[in-house]
Amino acid sequence: MIVGVLGGGQLGRMLGLAAANLGVRVRFMDTSAEAPARHVGELIVDDFDRPRRLSEFVRGLSLVTYEFENVPAALVERLSRTLKVYPGPEALRQAQDRLNEKTLFSRLGIPTARFAPIDGPGDVPAALAHVGLPAVIKTRRLGYDGKGQALVRTTGQAAAAAAELGAGRIPLIAEQFVRFDREVSVIGVRSADGSTAFYPLTENVHAAGILRTSRAPLPGRGAAALQRLAERHARRVLAEVEYVGVLAIEFFERAGSLLANEMAPRVHNSGHWTIDGAACSQFENHLRGILGLPLGPTGALGAAGMVNLIGDWPPLARLAAIDGARVHLYDKQPRPGRKVGHVNVSAPSAAQRERVMRAVEREVRRAGRIS
Ligand SMILES: Nc1ncnc2c1ncn2[C@@H]1O[C@H](COP(=O)(O)OP(=O)(O)O)[C@@H](O)[C@H]1O
Ligand SMILES: [Mg+2]
Repeated sequence: MIVGVLGGGQLGRMLGLAAANLGVRVRFMDTSAEAPARHVGELIVDDFDRPRRLSEFVRGLSLVTYEFENVPAALVERLSRTLKVYPGPEALRQAQDRLNEKTLFSRLGIPTARFAPIDGPGDVPAALAHVGLPAVIKTRRLGYDGKGQALVRTTGQAAAAAAELGAGRIPLIAEQFVRFDREVSVIGVRSADGSTAFYPLTENVHAAGILRTSRAPLPGRGAAALQRLAERHARRVLAEVEYVGVLAIEFFERAGSLLANEMAPRVHNSGHWTIDGAACSQFENHLRGILGLPLGPTGALGAAGMVNLIGDWPPLARLAAIDGARVHLYDKQPRPGRKVGHVNVSAPSAAQRERVMRAVEREVRRAGRIS
């Protein structure tokens, strides 16, 4: 059996590693011959917009999935004429555009920050009147790791940011700036037969728009009520688009309520802890879901944590020396702001998890160069 994966980044690489354990082969398509997934499966180097090696890519595939949501809709549409593509085109269409996803959340009764489209510079005043200040202006498509967004505090800043982001040429969205207590995410999986499973909510800390650390199960009180709420929201989304595979939804938690920020129709950075901290990882469960296998157990084995390695990584020997830390490097070239690996921590107690995470963060600081 061969699964096709559009994209060969670190998410593809980790999908490939999980596939190997199930005896499933993986074939990636990526624009780079240096794609991090190149050593865990076959790699077809091609252009997603104008593929030239598509027949080579699809040969013998059982189905196709993807590891980034910016796959051109035309390619997915073309592939889905002859092959199952999971998650399906509708889920992708909703998740590719911040306006679509927030509109979907609202339609399903899932609270969000106030939002308004900006289709041209002339829309800025009305959008601000709706969302208020401060606001966050974002490109509707193609943004990631905080790229393509600006926090604005005045109408002047908003007009400048909208112009800078390409208002009129590129569709934008304005959002109310949320003073959240913390950020949490839910990773859910739905199988083709409609069964679902959810991992414990994860607490996520971002800096400069990039995820730095995750902790699960959710520390602090009130976790059970938030878990029920998040699962109810996620179940609605999964059912609405007849979703198949892993879906991540990011929320802002504020005064015990959850505001949905965005969703990712794929395995997600905030679920990396599941590789070492759950009996069945998000990567394996994504494969189980799309292959129609029974879903695996999603409970946390202990207190789990994850520290992203961004820009560069400390010497492997120093990380490997930390008891309770599991190192995952992506075989990428160091570059500022780039996710090059992560360290998972699973510990018998939250206190022990914090000790190990601090030890990892000390190494990250000591290595410098890392941002
Ligand atoms: N409306 C908002 N209010 C407050 N913080 C925000 C808002 N939108 C984004 N952020 C911050 O920026 C981070 C990245 O934004 P996000 O919408 O998740 O885009 P992406 O992850 O695709 O770059 C969020 O995790 C959050 O920390
Ligand atoms: Mg995000």
